[in-house]
Amino acid sequence: MDFIGHAAFLLRGKGEVLIDPYLTENPLTEVQPEDLQPDLILVTHAHHDHLGDAIDISRRTGAPILTTPELASHVEGEGATAMAAHMGGVVNMGFCEVKLFPAWHSSSIDGRMLGVPVSFVISMDGISVYHAGDTALFGDMALIGEEFDLELALLPIGGRYTMGPEDALRALGLLRPKRVVPMHYDTFDTIRLDPSRFCSDAEEMGVRCHSIPPGGSLEV
Ligand code: NI
Ligand code: MN
Repeated sequence: MDFIGHAAFLLRGKGEVLIDPYLTENPLTEVQPEDLQPDLILVTHAHHDHLGDAIDISRRTGAPILTTPELASHVEGEGATAMAAHMGGVVNMGFCEVKLFPAWHSSSIDGRMLGVPVSFVISMDGISVYHAGDTALFGDMALIGEEFDLELALLPIGGRYTMGPEDALRALGLLRPKRVVPMHYDTFDTIRLDPSRFCSDAEEMGVRCHSIPPGGSLEV
């Protein structure tokens, strides 16, 4: 798995799943859209730091953008390939399976609401990964933890727009993954944060924590 930066990840297994590809406008990433050839693009919500370069990458590669119906019709209108699904739904792509869950946040483009945000569990090669999107802590994360034996949770810790580190630790208690990668911090002045305290607290809970710099990778 590659951490591209912010909330953007590339899961590499039987196929390549790109999540929330915020690249060209991310000051902390050097990965360019042309570098990527995903089989599937997941977008948690319409905010610019998540939709990012998804439309361009889909146009170039033909990879479908799997997201909520409202955002799916928007990206289709912009020439991307879209697949709509919604919370509770499971999409079997053959090389992987994706289930959509809630996220407590909003979804908008230029201040206009566009559907609701979601989070994803991606199961590929027998491994399940939870990408929380931009969310506050919510109790139903416990249901996700019950349903899946999560190898890895990708959780925002930057605060201000999402969970901060304390709530992300409580999320770990509900999700019970084996490992965690913190995300959605440092990219902007409003979310500057040193993840080392979060990581040591997570390790104390028995969850292996990997704080990966943008551009870094993790063997999953
Ligand atoms: Ni957002
Ligand atoms: Mn965001």
